[in-house]
Amino acid sequence: MNVSTDKSKERIGAMFDSIAHSYDRLNHSLSLGIDRLWRRKVTRMAKHLKARRVLDIATGTGDMAIALARLGCTEQIVGGDFSENMLAIARTKAARLDCGRKITFCREDALELSLEDDSFDMTTVAFGARNFADLKRGLEQMRRVTRSGGSVAVLELTIPHNPAIRLLYRLYLHGLLPVIGRLTSKDKCAYDYLPASVEQFPQRERFTEIMSQAGWRNCRYESLTFGIATLYTAEK
Ligand SMILES: C[S@@+](CC[C@H](N)C(=O)[O-])C[C@H]1O[C@@H](n2cnc3c(N)ncnc32)[C@H](O)[C@@H]1O
Repeated sequence: MNVSTDKSKERIGAMFDSIAHSYDRLNHSLSLGIDRLWRRKVTRMAKHLKARRVLDIATGTGDMAIALARLGCTEQIVGGDFSENMLAIARTKAARLDCGRKITFCREDALELSLEDDSFDMTTVAFGARNFADLKRGLEQMRRVTRSGGSVAVLELTIPHNPAIRLLYRLYLHGLLPVIGRLTSKDKCAYDYLPASVEQFPQRERFTEIMSQAGWRNCRYESLTFGIATLYTAEK
């Protein structure tokens, strides 16, 4: 099957608008809840850095922003995304969990951030960078709004190194996941796009090279859960 990996704002925005209603349920069940542990890595980092102002771009339904808002050290979180339906769910959830005061959810395109230079201690993106039409530009924009000495954390899905685990993971990613995704979300394309976008996305060393080209320094990565996900970090 030929799966389109067109990453135009219109296509990606419409795709997430269409699956927003089922995103949280599917996300947590398809990852067996492990996505929470991966996000916790980022919140630990924010706590260690005592980050007060954080931008979570491609925030979606706001799980990363909400986890950051619950830290004692943070004072203000901006959660940006270009899907209005994802943002609507994020706002409702943050209000329900009583952390709405710390977070501002707003419409933002990661490739053209309207935010001021040097205005955040830390910028984060969880499972969103894979959708950027221009990854280097997205990382440059995140760097622009991060203060000098501030940090970035990028969580992204990756293909495991170990051949046996890689085989099992690919069976899941290309076989089971699109079927469950299609049945639950009723969207025909989104869960075919997901495995294709993971396969085609720059991983590990290649990703850190692009981070460096975008101006970040001390670019590192850490494999999580057999390399199914990777945490990339760097400093400005
Ligand atoms: C897979 S979801 C991840 C959401 C959330 N960060 C999480 O961890 O569950 C990807 C999100 O990225 C957003 N997105 C993709 N490209 C974007 C861009 N260029 N600017 C802003 N948001 C973007 C989509 O609208 C979607 O909400």
